[in-house]
Amino acid sequence: MTAGRRPYGRSAPLPLHLVAGNHDDPEALLDEFGGTRFVGDGATMHYAVEHPAFTVISLDSAVPCSPGGHLGTAQLEWLDEVLARRPSTPAIVCLHHPPIAIGIPFLDGMRLDDGEELADVVARHRNVVRVLAGHVHRPITAAFAGSTLAIAPSTHLQSGLALDDGVPNYLPEPTSFLLHLSGPSWVTHTVPVSHAAAPIACF
Ligand SMILES: [Fe+2]
Repeated sequence: MTAGRRPYGRSAPLPLHLVAGNHDDPEALLDEFGGTRFVGDGATMHYAVEHPAFTVISLDSAVPCSPGGHLGTAQLEWLDEVLARRPSTPAIVCLHHPPIAIGIPFLDGMRLDDGEELADVVARHRNVVRVLAGHVHRPITAAFAGSTLAIAPSTHLQSGLALDDGVPNYLPEPTSFLLHLSGPSWVTHTVPVSHAAAPIACF
């Protein structure tokens, strides 16, 4: 970490890597974290970190002034190359926007718009043990291109399970995060971090 930077993450027990969401400004993130381990020592918000036991790949699906997501051909081609570098090492592909419809119409309208193209790339590589997303503020699991898609709940507010049309207002459900354990079969735990619900608010 360079002199003058704030000591982000020094108390965290695990390495931290950032993924840009639709409320983030990638330029601002890079102004603060570019060249640090939080973005793989790189200068873009799509990057790979080759840990000894697994590869973490972060994609940038943010679209300026839009709640929806997009990766684009150049980033998908880069992903294809990165996944081929260590074909026997487990890889975790992370992005903010879910690449499939989750069954909540309001949120499906703001998912990744080139999810099928992402699936084509992931399907070419047998080492992708998880595709991780967020954005929709609910814990959701689905098969995806021969791998497993795990969508993390929110550490703040959870979305309602609005399976018909309508806005899924926030619910007073406990805040949680996902913990992925490596092994012959990777296992994902949903870990509540509050028994009481988060305060209801809007942004
Ligand atoms: Fe989001």
